[in-house]
This record gives sequence, structure tokens and C-alpha cells, in this order.
Amino acid sequence: MRSQRLRRRLVRQLVAEDVLHEQPWVQAFATVPRHVFLPRFFVPAGGQWAAVDRSDPGWLERVYSRDVLVTQLDDDPSRWELARATGSVPGTPTSSSSMPAIMAIMLEELQVRDGDQVLEIGTGTGYNAGLLCHRCGSGSVSTVDIDPGLTAAARERLSTCGYAPTCATGDGALGFPTGILFDRVLCTASVSTIPLAWLAQTVPGGLVVTTLNRPLGGGLVRLIVGEDGTAEGRILPRDGRFMPLRAHRLPPHPAHLPEPSDVDWRPTGLSMSEILKPRRHFEFFASLELPDIHPVRIEPDGTFALSHPDGSWARTRRTDSGVEVAQGGPRALWDLAEQAHHRWDSLGRPDRSHFGLTVRGDEQTLWLDNPETGLRWPLGGT
Ligand SMILES: C[S@@+](CC[C@H](N)C(=O)[O-])C[C@H]1O[C@@H](n2cnc3c(N)ncnc32)[C@H](O)[C@@H]1O
Repeated sequence: MRSQRLRRRLVRQLVAEDVLHEQPWVQAFATVPRHVFLPRFFVPAGGQWAAVDRSDPGWLERVYSRDVLVTQLDDDPSRWELARATGSVPGTPTSSSSMPAIMAIMLEELQVRDGDQVLEIGTGTGYNAGLLCHRCGSGSVSTVDIDPGLTAAARERLSTCGYAPTCATGDGALGFPTGILFDRVLCTASVSTIPLAWLAQTVPGGLVVTTLNRPLGGGLVRLIVGEDGTAEGRILPRDGRFMPLRAHRLPPHPAHLPEPSDVDWRPTGLSMSEILKPRRHFEFFASLELPDIHPVRIEPDGTFALSHPDGSWARTRRTDSGVEVAQGGPRALWDLAEQAHHRWDSLGRPDRSHFGLTVRGDEQTLWLDNPETGLRWPLGGT
């Protein structure tokens, strides 16, 4: 069967990519039919979104590609029909089937053991819940999404595949509606701070895996839950970015950047990509030392500037002799970034895996190397 062949190819790719290792998860990815969960989705089309469904050529190949497949825009289920009718629509993704690679990473990082009760927050298409059901058994899986249309469709698709997890509609930031205790909690969306309801619904010693939603320095974290609703753990070395839970969306961040010809430029040894690209490793430390700084995309060339809510900004340009920077507003953002980079250098250039997070109620603290003695910063900025 074609879908089986494509599924096997995807598994081989994930193994080769070094994100899928454990046999139970290899089996789950090789078995659960992703195409059942993705009868329709959006694909990028010149800055907008075009609608694809199963009657389109290439649909099945796209389903078994390594890409994220967006399934909802702007919380509005009617956008797909509109895009189908008009060709393409603008919009912000609000539900998707995530990249298989990041799903594999998160599922393995969850360290599920036989018999564990697992909660997934963010049912979406239901595909990840299907993988969990294959590995753990439907009776051990609960999943919740805030959108009733999504949970209804996911329930039906899961049932088509022979899976029947406990599926609920509700605000996953408040935990699962029926107050049972879980051994593992996996949020397939991102959060600005760790919802305390998750810790209250997790057995002591249980694990929570989620991604952090921050303007810079987001990514994966795994926490071990303590006896008294506390939790502590590490930022994980593999990076992963997810759309946020609804209440955890960052406020819009309008930035007013002056024209390049109206500003003074000076040479700098630091580049914008050093600050913004997670692969360069400075990004996580920069997010801690430069709280509230947002990357701003400059159209039409797609380069980035830095901006702060107080109106400060910094932008760079490449010249024949290197990088130049211009900055303005009440705080000199680029000077601060250069100072942070020197500090990072003097600390031995720690990458994201050197950082951790401790949750004690509303006090949520990021730290370097050691929660007691290391440098510390509040999660969520100043
Ligand atoms: C990236 S998608 C999840 C993908 C999903 N696991 C799958 O396999 O298709 C994120 C999901 O989080 C859901 N979501 C957003 N806010 C939520 C909330 N407060 N509680 C529960 N789900 C939420 C969205 O509706 C969306 O479906």
C-alpha cells in the first residue's frame, strides 16, 4: 500500500535524523496512519495559505513529509473553505499536526513506562494521541483541546484507527477536566509559564514535557514534579517551537523602525543571527539577559531587527567590511546585547542544555547549571 510505503520512508528519515530511536515509538510511527488525521490542511502560498485536501495530487506525499501541516487559521474552522474557494487566505496558524521530528523528540523525552497514565494537552488532529495510544494503550491516554470542533474530529479519526483515549474539550492550562492523576503530561503547544494545574495533576516523580513560548529562547523543557506541587528540570538540548496555548499567546508587538538612511551606523563584532538563531547557542542566554526584547521581521527582505516595548530598537546591515549596527530609543539594545555576549563568553559559552527551570508556585526561575548556586533569572522576563 502506498501510504504504508510512505510511512516506512518517514520512519527511516526520522531514524536517520537521529530523532527516533526507541522501538515502541518506531513501531508507533510505522503503524499509526497519519493520513487519516489529515484529510485537509493548509500549505504556504506566497505569504498566505492555500487549502489542500485528499483529492489533490501530492496530498499523501505531503502527509508523510517531515513538514508541519497547518490545519486551522485564526481559530476559525471556516478559513479552509474560504481558501479553497478563493485560492489562498492570510492568517495565523492555530492548530496543526507538528513536524514528525519534534513529535518524536517530545515522545521519547517523555520517558513513558508501561502502565503510565499520560495526559496530552493540545489534541489537534489527534495524530499524536494516536501515537500515544499505540504505545501506551487507549486506556492510559487522556487528551484535551480547547476547540470542540477539533476534539470531535479527532475522536472520530482515532476511533477509525481503533483508538479510544479519554478525549475532552476544555482549557488544558487548567489540567484535565476530570481530576485524575497522571504519570506523564505532554503539552503539544507552548506556554509562557508552567500552569500549576499540571503539577497538581501529576504524581510526585512524574514528568511534564512542554515547550516555552518566549520571544527569544523558547524551546523544550522537561520537569520532574515534586511532592508539593513544585517541579524542576532542564531545558532540553533539542530545540522545538510550538504554537502557544490560547491564553499564553504573546501580545502583539508593534515596532516602529526608522528608515536605514535616517540613522547612524557603527561597526559591530556581533551579528543578528548570533542573537536570534538557536543553533548559535547564544540565543538562550540572550533571552535571559535581554528580557522583553522581540525580534521584528523587516519586509520585504525578511531580515530581522530587535525591538523593546519601550520603543527601543536595533538593526544591522552587512557591508563589505563586516556588520554594522544602528540603534535608538531609551535603551541601547545593541550595547546590551554586546555586553550579554561578553558575559556569555566569560561563562564558557553555555548552550541551552546548561539551563534549567524551577517552579515553586508563581515563582518560576530559570538558572544556569545549578538551581541553588547558579545565576538565576525569572521566567517571563523582568
Ligand atoms: C500544535 S497543535 C497540537 C497538535 C496535536 N497534538 C496533533 O497531533 O495534531 C496545538 C493545539 O493546542 C490547542 N490549544 C490551544 N490552546 C489550548 C488550551 N488552552 N487548552 C487545550 N488546547 C489548546 C489548539 O487548539 C491546537 O489544536
